[in-house]
Amino acid sequence: MLNLVLFGAPGSGKGTQSEKLIEEYGLHHISTGEVLRKHIKEGTELGKTADSFISKGQLIPDELMIDILRHELAGKINDSKGVIFDGFPRTIPQAEALDEMLRGMGHELHGVIGLEVPEEELVERMLQRGKQTGRADDNIETINNRLKVYHDQTEPLKEHYKGKGKYMHINGHGEIDKIFSDISDQIKARTGIGRRNK
Ligand code: AP5
Ligand code: MG
Repeated sequence: MLNLVLFGAPGSGKGTQSEKLIEEYGLHHISTGEVLRKHIKEGTELGKTADSFISKGQLIPDELMIDILRHELAGKINDSKGVIFDGFPRTIPQAEALDEMLRGMGHELHGVIGLEVPEEELVERMLQRGKQTGRADDNIETINNRLKVYHDQTEPLKEHYKGKGKYMHINGHGEIDKIFSDISDQIKARTGIGRRNK
């Protein structure tokens, strides 16, 4: 069992590295952003609420977000694999809720992978993706808000997890495969768990 948080600013590569982690470690993936975008696409009530926050680059309120996570987690945590939490937690109350949920299920969080990328590179990546895929929050105004919200509300989690000895600093700027190899090395060093395709 390996439960990991993929942590980092918007555009830092959480989704990209999650895909590789799923493949190499056989983990379940929970991306709260993807869950919300699916609801928006399907036009559900939750999707309408989520859209009003996402389009402004603001966070969905904690209480709602924690309920969504609890729902997503049910059924994924009770086999021998583990879960990658991509984009959750983003606030201290979310981090505390995650700890409590895992503990209540007899599990724990093994580490927080923190992808560190210079801000100009983040903006460039998101603008590029906006052009290629049309993702609605990848426009300069919303990107700037997302980055501000990240610094104000999410970045303090770094110290929170450093204090618990769980934070793994990763240079997220450069070749995707090199970044993944650095992540794997840190997972191995901390947990003894290696990639299954190696
Ligand atoms: P979410 O979907 O989580 O978006 P985000 O955090 O803004 O991050 P992104 O998905 O944009 O980037 P990423 O880090 O996954 O990077 P990626 O691999 O895609 O959240 C969206 C919104 O939902 C939030 O703003 C909020 O409103 C709401 N929300 C979600 N979770 C919430 C929560 N817990 N609480 C409250 N609200 C929540 O890479 C980015 C681009 O760069 C891609 O095009 C990729 O191909 C490219 N790339 C990746 N790695 C590299 C590399 N090494 N070199 C060059 N290019 C690269
Ligand atoms: Mg993502």
